[in-house]
Amino acid sequence: MSKSITFKVQPGGTLHGEVRVPGDKSISHRSIMLGSLADGTTHVTGFLEAEDALATLQAFKDMGVVIEGPENGQVTIHGVGKHGLKAPKGELYLGNSGTSMRLLSGLLAGQAFDSVLTGDKSLSGRPMKRVTAPLAEMGADIKTAEQGTAPLRIFGRAGQLKGIDYTMPMASAQVKSCLLLAGMYAQGETSVTEPAPTRDHTERMLAGFAYPVKRQDNIAKDGVYAADLPGAGAAKVTITAEGQLKATDIDVPSDISSAAFFLVGASIAPGSDVLLKHVGINPTRTGVIDILKLMGANIEILNQREVGGEPVADLHVVYSPLKGIDIPEALVPLAIDEFPVLFVAAACAEGQTRLTGAEELRVKESDRIQVMADGLQILGVSAEPTADGMIIQGGTIGGGEVISHGDHRIAMSFAIAALKASKSITIHDCENVNTSFPGFKTLAQQLGLSIAEEIL
Ligand code: S3P
Repeated sequence: MSKSITFKVQPGGTLHGEVRVPGDKSISHRSIMLGSLADGTTHVTGFLEAEDALATLQAFKDMGVVIEGPENGQVTIHGVGKHGLKAPKGELYLGNSGTSMRLLSGLLAGQAFDSVLTGDKSLSGRPMKRVTAPLAEMGADIKTAEQGTAPLRIFGRAGQLKGIDYTMPMASAQVKSCLLLAGMYAQGETSVTEPAPTRDHTERMLAGFAYPVKRQDNIAKDGVYAADLPGAGAAKVTITAEGQLKATDIDVPSDISSAAFFLVGASIAPGSDVLLKHVGINPTRTGVIDILKLMGANIEILNQREVGGEPVADLHVVYSPLKGIDIPEALVPLAIDEFPVLFVAAACAEGQTRLTGAEELRVKESDRIQVMADGLQILGVSAEPTADGMIIQGGTIGGGEVISHGDHRIAMSFAIAALKASKSITIHDCENVNTSFPGFKTLAQQLGLSIAEEIL
């Protein structure tokens, strides 16, 4: 039996201090994937030593790549070249990690060997047709379970994939990245057009490894150019098999999705003042800052610099009363992982906050609309789930027992809610915090949260 972790968080308190949260999960995954396929040795620093990124690392070891570490965030990858992966001896188990499964499905579709991708209960319930359907159009041979879910049985079609020109029905960086990785093994051009900008770490890192990718950021949609559309518009990325990856060094910035818990915590707890160091502020990830600022948060972006092709800064956040807003839909893909904690911000704001256009939240590690609405209601907050979002009346937060449903970001969000609660909050099912934010409890304690852990 695996252990079960419960968080018990005492109400109130303030957050104070300077911290560096762990490395970016998306960039950590990609560093292992591209470093493994490169010619030469790649050194990674700031690697996220959490279960999700470690699942990717193990998968590449299982395919014959020699990887040293991680040790204090340092990983050395002895790249095997684009065609150097070997057939794994068994199934590749990817735990809770959707990014590992969706990106690997594209990469493995064009290999000279077969493979099977499996995951935990949550990952085995998540939709995989969004990758297997376009991959099938490219000529891939992948069998899913009946509902279009994992396990994925991939029959390698080396030399037989064909490029496609694909417009994604949803704004998904995982689908885009999956198809770009498959495109590295396909005949002709593979192009992906996105309905709204999504995180572009794959494109940036491919360029960092000297692999040619063509990016167009201003595609006409229904005769209107992206620049003229409200918010952001469609972008198109194109890749071919013509290229090699050249090993490089990667400095992984802190994950803005982990920093988000303290951006919200310091914004809602009177008297708070926190400096979050070396945080990745890629413009495809900063929706959480924009949304909090629209709500009245006091966040300064300091010491902005570029590290290995990714923008990085220190974020200084000081308490400021928040007000409810209608969240602009254009910001949704740019803050997609931060809504659980943004719902907590909304519960503490004056007035109503309304989120629309975020149906993707229903197919994350849990149904984040339902699970957050259920938990907030238990805590006495008026939170009404809708098909594609939520309507929250800000006010007071009570206390009680909530369930995270094994979703790391739900667990951490309710821990942060305790800063503004009138009674203690108990959160069940918190084991998976280790998938993205190892050391969350200790770091949160260091900043001033009264959080204790019970391990059964
Ligand atoms: C990710 C993309 C996003 C995000 C996930 C990580 C990535 O998923 O929610 O945590 O690293 O590409 P979608 O592409 O499904 O939106």
